[in-house]
Amino acid sequence: MTASTHVLHRQFAHTLPVAVSARGIEIVDREGRSYIDASGGAAVSCLGHGHPDVLAAMHAQIDRLAYAHTSFFTTEVAEALADRLVAGAPAGMSHAYFVSGGSEAMEAALKMARQHFVEIGQPQRTRFIARRQSYHGNTLGALAVGGNEWRRRQFAPLLIDVTHVSPCYEYRDRRADETPQQYGARLVQELAGAIDRIGGENVIAFVAETVVGATAGALVPVPGYLQGVRELCTRHGILLILDEVMCGMGRTGTLHACEREGVVPDLLAIAKGLGGGYQPIGAVLAQQRIVESFQRGSGLFQHGHTYIGHAVACAAALAVQQVIERDRLLDAVQRGGHGLAERLQAAFGPHPNVGDLRGRGLFRVFELVAARATKTPFDPALKLHARIRREAMARGLMVYPMGGTIDGLRGDHVLLAPPFITSDDDLDRIVERLQAALAAALSGVGA
Ligand SMILES: Cc1ncc(COP(=O)(O)O)c(C=O)c1O
Repeated sequence: MTASTHVLHRQFAHTLPVAVSARGIEIVDREGRSYIDASGGAAVSCLGHGHPDVLAAMHAQIDRLAYAHTSFFTTEVAEALADRLVAGAPAGMSHAYFVSGGSEAMEAALKMARQHFVEIGQPQRTRFIARRQSYHGNTLGALAVGGNEWRRRQFAPLLIDVTHVSPCYEYRDRRADETPQQYGARLVQELAGAIDRIGGENVIAFVAETVVGATAGALVPVPGYLQGVRELCTRHGILLILDEVMCGMGRTGTLHACEREGVVPDLLAIAKGLGGGYQPIGAVLAQQRIVESFQRGSGLFQHGHTYIGHAVACAAALAVQQVIERDRLLDAVQRGGHGLAERLQAAFGPHPNVGDLRGRGLFRVFELVAARATKTPFDPALKLHARIRREAMARGLMVYPMGGTIDGLRGDHVLLAPPFITSDDDLDRIVERLQAALAAALSGVGA
């Protein structure tokens, strides 16, 4: 344990175990305890830890060239990664803009969208519309489009003015007299109303996570909802920015989560599983017409950071993506996803405090309730999510519990996002430990 520290950690009250090594799906601490990484950190470590092919690619790159600033050079590895990403991207996407993480990807996407309209002579477009209970990152632009009240509150005076509409949260918000399709159509109508109030000609983009990740917990869109959103945006000349930082790059069983929705965004933000945690890397994939508006106009994208397109990060990401293809890991995600869903259903389906089990692929959540019939959440003061995290860690299990599921304050859920290489036996061990952790956490709150 860290007795004293000069690292400004995320929280002051906690002492963290010191991670010293990791292999496969396990991380080992300095005391020799090992933890199954059933959340891939925060849905990052898609290949697990210490993958020999990724390490070899990184070593080879470091030996040749670790870094060359992108205003002086391009690199073979950045070009190769971009070629690969564009080849696998939704229709019409022609370029990848590399950054160092998810928030940077979202910042870049917001600025790309704005600059596009300046380039094509529509500078009056200044507004973004996004959804409550989404998370797009912690930098000011990303935080502004994000819709999690708790994360935004103290910084709100610093944030650009963004219109937020309802999330697609079937478990809580679909009325009993609605089909999923009708519920989706109602949400599209709500967005249409927001666009009309602002004036469609003033809106830059609608921003959404294809499958909502951390803040509301693996919210899968109802059928037709994102298609309706896409049509609406197209009708008003509004860009659609999909944030697949967490749910993308295979996590839900297709390379991009939007493939399952039959929707093509104008800009697509990816990160986490792109580099699998071997290096910090994210990217924005952009439609050709957006890039062309820059080419024909000012001739540059007015943005940039020191480490964009970092050669070692690109080498790591390229290797991760090659392994995923070579080892057919998207199939493994679909298979493992079914296996995990079945196990969770068996273990928690009948549980009186589990209100909803949801997700797609190896991106699964259960939402906790004090009473199933009324869907009443636990008192936020109990911090049930933090207790589950503690109890899981005490049993050698990393999961990703979160509070504020419903509105940033109320609600608790537990997210699982294990590596794509997780075996059936591993899934059994994960669910077993999770059952024990949940039981201990619930008994701690008297449930
Ligand atoms: C959907 C989504 N967007 C953006 C981010 C921000 O990414 P990062 O933490 O790499 O800046 C996250 C992080 O969890 C995320 O889940």
